[in-house]
Amino acid sequence: MATNNPVLDFALSCPKAELHMHIEGSLEPELAFALAQRNGIAFPYVDSEALRAAYNFADLQSFLDLYYACADVLRTEADFRDLMLAYLERAQADGIVHTEIFFDPQTHTARGITFETVLKGLEAGAAEGNARFGITSRLIVCFLRHLSEDEGFAMLAQVEPFIDRIHGFGLDSSERGHPSAKFERLFARCRALGKPVVAHAGEEGPPAYIYEALDLLKVSRIDHGVRASEDPDLMQRLAREQIPLTVCPLSNIRLCVFEQMELHTLPKLLEAGLKVTLNSDDPAYFGGYLGDNIRAVQAAFDWDAKTWYKLARNSLEASFASAEQKADWIAGLDEQFNSLAV
Ligand code: ADE
Ligand code: ZN
Repeated sequence: MATNNPVLDFALSCPKAELHMHIEGSLEPELAFALAQRNGIAFPYVDSEALRAAYNFADLQSFLDLYYACADVLRTEADFRDLMLAYLERAQADGIVHTEIFFDPQTHTARGITFETVLKGLEAGAAEGNARFGITSRLIVCFLRHLSEDEGFAMLAQVEPFIDRIHGFGLDSSERGHPSAKFERLFARCRALGKPVVAHAGEEGPPAYIYEALDLLKVSRIDHGVRASEDPDLMQRLAREQIPLTVCPLSNIRLCVFEQMELHTLPKLLEAGLKVTLNSDDPAYFGGYLGDNIRAVQAAFDWDAKTWYKLARNSLEASFASAEQKADWIAGLDEQFNSLAV
């Protein structure tokens, strides 16, 4: 819906990619209750309002505890399809043309749900989302870093028969105490399979965790990375090498990484020339989808259209889509930007 602010309208409607969104984190309380009912699961909350009231997080771990508990309602291929389709419908409203979606298979296989069930459900939702909204989607398997590297290898063995349907690998879950170094061999294997790798780093963890993700895991993008600002040498390197950061502003506020949006390191990262992209992380839990993140950031920083153009362009360039596809999207973005009368 148009606002009375042309810069915000441009930021919201221009073509962009979302590169950091956990599909399990898009499970809205209403859908969680519907799936619990469909699957005959007793849910420890009386209604969706009571569940939403529990979204009061002190840090990453307090969020993850609830996030894994809620994922228990996801049981069948149809559940994963419905989840994906609900997200893509929201994504369309925010101008998203392409999305690279994280999922956590270990959360599901630990409950006896096969990797194939999860994959087929997500693919069905993505195919329907593409037909209905024109959005292209890619799937990134994330390893849970609170588990061991051996457990990661066991997961990878289950993924390998479907490897052509997976576009990359990531690393998520509890960051503190689980540095990237723990997964060096696993990520070498993922790269040997010909897949790009990414990792959460510098969300709660220090800059050293970002160095490890770059040097040991050899990631193509850093997820979050907002604590890079504490290390001037790292800032220079990220700028020089144009390593994309998938920043998630509302997530950082909800998980108390920053007290308020005005104190976020986003302006510093941008001013230093880093390749920043904006994303929603776990939109059902953190107060909104990409558009809500854009509104919150604009309310705090009042950026000009050029900055929003740069952020959208970064997201398209940092995606794993083909060069031709990127050029096509960027031409559309340029056209919209050049027709702006601000
Ligand atoms: N899994 C889902 N959301 C996450 C986040 N923000 N950080 C780490 N792991 C996650
Ligand atoms: Zn994340």
